[in-house]
Amino acid sequence: MTRGRIVGTGSTTPMRVLTNKDLEKIVDTTDEWITRRTGIKERRISSDGQGENTSEMGTKASLKALDMSGISPEDLDMIVVGTVTPDCQFPSVACLVQKDLGAGKAVAFDVSAGCSGFLYALSVADNAIVTGSCRNALVVGAERLSAITNWDDRTTCVLLGDGSGAVVLTAGTEDDGILSTHLQSDGNFWNLLYTADATCKIPEILDTVEGKPFYLKMDGNRLFKKAVPCLANIAVSALEHHGLSRDDVKLMIPHQANIRIIQAVAERMLIPMDKVYTNLHKYGNTSSASIPIALDEAYREGLLEPGDYVLLVTFGAGLTWGASVVKWSI
Ligand code: ACO
Repeated sequence: MTRGRIVGTGSTTPMRVLTNKDLEKIVDTTDEWITRRTGIKERRISSDGQGENTSEMGTKASLKALDMSGISPEDLDMIVVGTVTPDCQFPSVACLVQKDLGAGKAVAFDVSAGCSGFLYALSVADNAIVTGSCRNALVVGAERLSAITNWDDRTTCVLLGDGSGAVVLTAGTEDDGILSTHLQSDGNFWNLLYTADATCKIPEILDTVEGKPFYLKMDGNRLFKKAVPCLANIAVSALEHHGLSRDDVKLMIPHQANIRIIQAVAERMLIPMDKVYTNLHKYGNTSSASIPIALDEAYREGLLEPGDYVLLVTFGAGLTWGASVVKWSI
């Protein structure tokens, strides 16, 4: 059977570091509150003119992944970018990355699935490989959340950060690679996390947050309660689909939203935290970029070897959620 194999990973984050102490000067918060409620200590924020907008970060992460893979941009058949913060509404970030890479024959498009954008993009590219319409694919998660953050809203601005991660997939017939990706969505809960413009109806639950155009609005408490069972259930289903148990998992790489969500999911799944990779203390929640950044850092830290089972799990606006089971191939 043909499946997509990960043969390269890369990531990048902006130079500018915004610590919890820095945030104490911007909104009514404390390092102690942020650390205790989220696990986040600092995050990276893009600066204009520094090559740190969404597509530029996407290109940087992609170049590192391509370099590791040994595949040249001209040999890419597809570029899929998961993002909710494109440089502009159109063209897609993927087309801008394609231009910057010189990946002339690749079909390029974005996927919008909240923080689950990377796993949705991975699934699309992997399915194209499985069905034979694509041999080499670049899958990117890239976000500049700072551009849509309400910096007066302490309930959200302390959570978010910017960055990008990428993987290169190539078709293989070995028994490793992306074994499967399981995705779910529930639009009934769209109003737990969304961006509002002037025409968007502001839900009653959030009517205390000042209605600024395009700013991110979130009911964090209700999201938290939805996230934990959704993440745990889909992760267990994905493992069971392959006859795997939690003991087979070398590393679980969850979406990096909040350490308490991650701990609660691990506890439900009876997976010890030393098998769960986290880097949210450094970057906060980078939405679609969080899993590919974490995957790249985990691999470069030597935590993954060929044949290891890696479980990627995500949850985000939409609502959207998903899990991928990967048998590591580099
Ligand atoms: N500093 C200090 N106090 C704060 C801050 C802050 N930054 N933010 C909120 N508070 C206050 C609130 O006003 C509230 O005060 P009150 O009790 O006087 O009303 C109190 O802290 C508790 O607020 P809660 O919202 O109940 O706190 P909670 O424990 O739920 O933590 C948090 C909030 C961190 C947002 C949590 O709900 C969370 O992480 N939710 C999930 C968010 C998330 O994961 N979002 C993304 C998932 S999807 C995706 O990634 C796109």
